[in-house]
Amino acid sequence: MKISIAVLLMVSCATATPQEEAAAPSAVARPRVVPSRPTRPPRDEADTKEAAQPLYSRLGGQDAITAVVDDFLARVSKDERINGRFSNADIPHLRGMLIEFFCEATGGPCKYSGKDMKTAHAGMGIVEAEFTALVQNLKGALDHLNVPAREQKDVLGALGPLKPQIVVPVAAMADVPTDEGAEGSAGEPRATEPEGRASRPDPVLDRARTLRQVSALLEKANAARLQGSRSYADQLFSSAEVIVGTQAVADLAPLFRQGAPPRIVSSLKAVSTDVPAQPPAVGNSDDEQPEKTGKRKRGQLMGTVVSSSGRALPSLAIVTLEPLSGKFSRRVPKQRVIEQRDREFAPKVLAIPVGSTVSFPNFDPVYHNVFSRSATRPFDLGIYKAGQSRELVFSKEGVVRIGCNLHANMSAYVAVVGAPHYAVADTAGQFSFRSLAPGRYRLRAWTENSDTPSVQTIAIKTNENHVVVTLSTDKPVGLQNDKFGAPRGGPTEE
Ligand code: HEM
Repeated sequence: MKISIAVLLMVSCATATPQEEAAAPSAVARPRVVPSRPTRPPRDEADTKEAAQPLYSRLGGQDAITAVVDDFLARVSKDERINGRFSNADIPHLRGMLIEFFCEATGGPCKYSGKDMKTAHAGMGIVEAEFTALVQNLKGALDHLNVPAREQKDVLGALGPLKPQIVVPVAAMADVPTDEGAEGSAGEPRATEPEGRASRPDPVLDRARTLRQVSALLEKANAARLQGSRSYADQLFSSAEVIVGTQAVADLAPLFRQGAPPRIVSSLKAVSTDVPAQPPAVGNSDDEQPEKTGKRKRGQLMGTVVSSSGRALPSLAIVTLEPLSGKFSRRVPKQRVIEQRDREFAPKVLAIPVGSTVSFPNFDPVYHNVFSRSATRPFDLGIYKAGQSRELVFSKEGVVRIGCNLHANMSAYVAVVGAPHYAVADTAGQFSFRSLAPGRYRLRAWTENSDTPSVQTIAIKTNENHVVVTLSTDKPVGLQNDKFGAPRGGPTEE
């Protein structure tokens, strides 16, 4: 956030000394935002003193900033030009982030703890007109709260430099999809609860309200589609689909899904949200099969994966072992979980035997999507809310990168393994296998930062064996492309 904050701070006039801060009149008891206006000193002197105060104090401090953010959010929620953007937002979280953002940016005592502007808006495909609409809403809030012209200029003028981090240049928009050759089907859940359901039980009015809501969503989805903002169009269309049901709009679905991975329409399962969080790495063949007890002595392997750069491993590594001779039986397929919690997938790396099933429960208060464009297992599970889950079978060996089309930062890997022994190394790169038949093995190791897996042959003897695996980990990994394959910022995987 440093760059944006710095930009804002540049326009917030000189930094105040502690004495000047103390001299700044408090706005705590003030219902409206009025910057300090001392009356006694002559006008020029007063203006000079006031100009020396940080914008934060001139606005009226924390209460004033909170009032502006609340008024601004209320306006945005009513603004048909952009309120669709916030239909899946966690509003209490966003409110908190905006208060911190404006507090720190205007020289206040807060520390903004959210994402930088580029990351926060990555993959949304926000266009200039939407940015303008949002700034107009902020101006409306500042006007409503009587913020004088000079302070308004300082706040609004500072937003301009943020535009390149938030708005997608027209040339970067994806091609407008055509109606031909489209494929895909529809989704299910409910993105926005119809308003007033509890207070007005009239079924006819209720249905009319629902249909109006669907109609507004479809119109917005179509506008986004025609503008080339495919992910946003798909999000709005999916929200409409959730309310009205898959079949009602099935004929329109191809218009929004062309170029996306195949849609999985298996039924949604209800899950309890009261379960502990998953660890970041899951999957070790030792956990899944009892140790072999036979006459033949077995060997153990203790290993460490290290980066060829000499630095700490940048990401979790997967290690597999396959005997070079003799027959081996494949592992029994498992049932595993990758959850969506706090806008992250957990685990981030999961190793499973071929044929295993993974369920993807959502534990967040917002909708999530789960998709992959990896050739091993392309899929799109649609959008669904907290307490719901869909599952998927992984029948082909390979590494599958998972993403959420609504939240660009979310990423995880499923390694579908055919080898009989596999492990996800810990953050220090350490792994172990406790029961191996003596002999020669092919050892493969991989992280998301390796261009190709490292492959080597090792000999396992009875009792303890040790190995250090050196991996090249120079491949930069940025935000995953969206489900249509469009970049969302930074280096991409494709
Ligand atoms: C100068 C203008 C803007 C500023 C200062 C700003 C600020 C922010 C901040 C601080 C966050 C929270 C980041 C976090 O969760 O860590 C955020 C999120 C978001 N912003 Fe903006 N934003 C701006 C423009 C826009 C525009 C033009 C739109 C769309 C019309 C937009 C849509 C969103 C959405 C949808 C989120 C995610 C909300 C959620 O999922 O909870 N923003 N923005």
